[in-house]
Amino acid sequence: MSFILNNVAIIGGGGNVGKIVLNALVSSGKFNITAIQRLESEATFPPGVTAIKSDFSDSSLEQAFKGQDAVISTVGATGLTEQQKFVDAALRAGVKRFIPSELSASSTDEAVISLLPLFGVKKNLIDYLKSKESEGLSWTGIATSGLLDWGLSNGFLEYDLQNHTAVIWDGGDKIFSATNEKALGQSVVSVLLGPQVTANKYLHVASVETSQNEILSALKKETGAKWTVSHVETDEVVSAAQKKLAAGDFTGAFTLVRAMMVGDIPGLKANYIQETDLANDLLGLKFETVKETVKRVVSQ
Ligand SMILES: NC(=O)c1ccc[n+]([C@@H]2O[C@H](COP(=O)([O-])OP(=O)(O)OC[C@H]3O[C@@H](n4cnc5c(N)ncnc54)[C@H](OP(=O)(O)O)[C@@H]3O)[C@@H](O)[C@H]2O)c1
Repeated sequence: MSFILNNVAIIGGGGNVGKIVLNALVSSGKFNITAIQRLESEATFPPGVTAIKSDFSDSSLEQAFKGQDAVISTVGATGLTEQQKFVDAALRAGVKRFIPSELSASSTDEAVISLLPLFGVKKNLIDYLKSKESEGLSWTGIATSGLLDWGLSNGFLEYDLQNHTAVIWDGGDKIFSATNEKALGQSVVSVLLGPQVTANKYLHVASVETSQNEILSALKKETGAKWTVSHVETDEVVSAAQKKLAAGDFTGAFTLVRAMMVGDIPGLKANYIQETDLANDLLGLKFETVKETVKRVVSQ
């Protein structure tokens, strides 16, 4: 596979993570990009991106994938089960690489799946992709753990930058890794530019190795404000989140995703820098410090 994957289609490119990936693809200036969206989608895309609306039928997907070298899926939770259909259509259309909607905690980690079985849907897709390798469609999975700058800006990580409040789990000293938006986007770009070395691999990436207390200290320093901290314990938070999810409240799932990063979950590998064979070198990704990240987020 001595080529670059130039023609690239993205599904879910208007979503939280899809926007990050799409912006990185556009900024690189190296790809012909098509964004495939549902009929009801109101997403808009940057200039230069070809938008195609699809009813997501088998034939419509196959048609949309014709001529594409790679298909990237960044669909959200409700779209994860649709991805097998994307893979089948990609095979029929002769696509060479499929990048599934991972870009979060690693679905190769059984403890992640036990905590939130939805991640089992992601793992099943990786198994499905493995079963299709011999038919000519290669794949690359990318696990990022949580997004640090993204999660600080929008409050997902429970630091409130306006009101200077924070929620700290289990005392806040647990070390975990996280990825920043730029590195997540670059990881996808690098896979497309280096298809040989990334074929049929599940890759772990990271931008920082940190703890909740280190992030809090950096925020205190950067904002110069007094922060009000509340303390919680993983067991209690996880049990409440699982009850919410069982009752149909999907906010419980967001809490469980947060637990994959900051919670004290037995057996869960949250520090990719220490606990996995990190792919940063392979993909040319740089590390950042927490201080740099926090400074950038606060100044925005
Ligand atoms: N590392 C992190 O911190 C982090 C944070 C968030 C998400 N993630 C991961 O990133 C991935 C994307 O999550 P997200 O939050 O970005 O997703 P999202 O914003 O909820 O959804 C992304 C897009 O998926 C499309 N979509 C939704 N349901 C679909 C369906 N049934 N069929 C086809 N397309 C559908 C929609 O696009 P259209 O309406 O335009 O068709 C939507 O804009 C997930 O794997 C998630 O686990 C990671």
